[in-house]
Amino acid sequence: MKIVEAKDYNEMSRKAADYIIKKIQNSPKLNLGLATGGTPVGIYQNLIKDHQLNGTSYTHIATFNLDEYVGLSPESPNSYRFYMNHKLFNHIDINIGKTHVPHGNAHHLHEECLRYERLIAENGGIDLQILGIGANGHIGFNEPGTSFQSITNIVDLTPSTREANARYFPSLSEVPTQAITMGISTIMKSKEIILLVSGENKAEAFSKFMIQEIDEKFPASILKNHPCVTIIADTAAMKKVKVHC
Ligand code: PGA
Repeated sequence: MKIVEAKDYNEMSRKAADYIIKKIQNSPKLNLGLATGGTPVGIYQNLIKDHQLNGTSYTHIATFNLDEYVGLSPESPNSYRFYMNHKLFNHIDINIGKTHVPHGNAHHLHEECLRYERLIAENGGIDLQILGIGANGHIGFNEPGTSFQSITNIVDLTPSTREANARYFPSLSEVPTQAITMGISTIMKSKEIILLVSGENKAEAFSKFMIQEIDEKFPASILKNHPCVTIIADTAAMKKVKVHC
């Protein structure tokens, strides 16, 4: 596990984007695993800027998002499909048919989970997965207690996750109670993972991550078993780690 410190959110975003851009330039058919939420927004802005300035092409790139809220249509401004289209896909030369986000409003949600899991495998798996971490240690929407063997599945969101995400919705009651998420074993099959950690509100989780033994009570701890993880964390997120050291 490699840890890279960035001085702030902008530097973390730039370092992560530079890494992704290099990967894409070396492997134009990369399968990229993507995340939503607040953390990766700066990365996507940097990818767009680089595409406009340097012409890095995404024509042959396929993307697989970690998760989607159950019950939201792709057109809903709060869906992760909408987020991805607006924050990245609409601004680069990617083939939208090669961008994959679970269908949160599928009629048969269980079948949708199996389809998504199969889709990733049939495309050869994820080469590089971008991950954030929840304040409770979740990765994707795999909340504490999720089996490390889990594959893409439907999960109940914890009250703390719903509260954390309420900032994007008109009110807490409108935050969906369930999501489809790649499972922990799905994530762990990625050939390479970048974990991004930014801000003081993640300092506690990151410090726990660093001292925590591998345990299903803290899903991110499993990443310590992955052969190729790079963590890019900013100084604010590392604050409590330094105190422990
Ligand atoms: P955030 O979410 O990037 O909005 O902090 C990360 C996560 O919950 O995994």
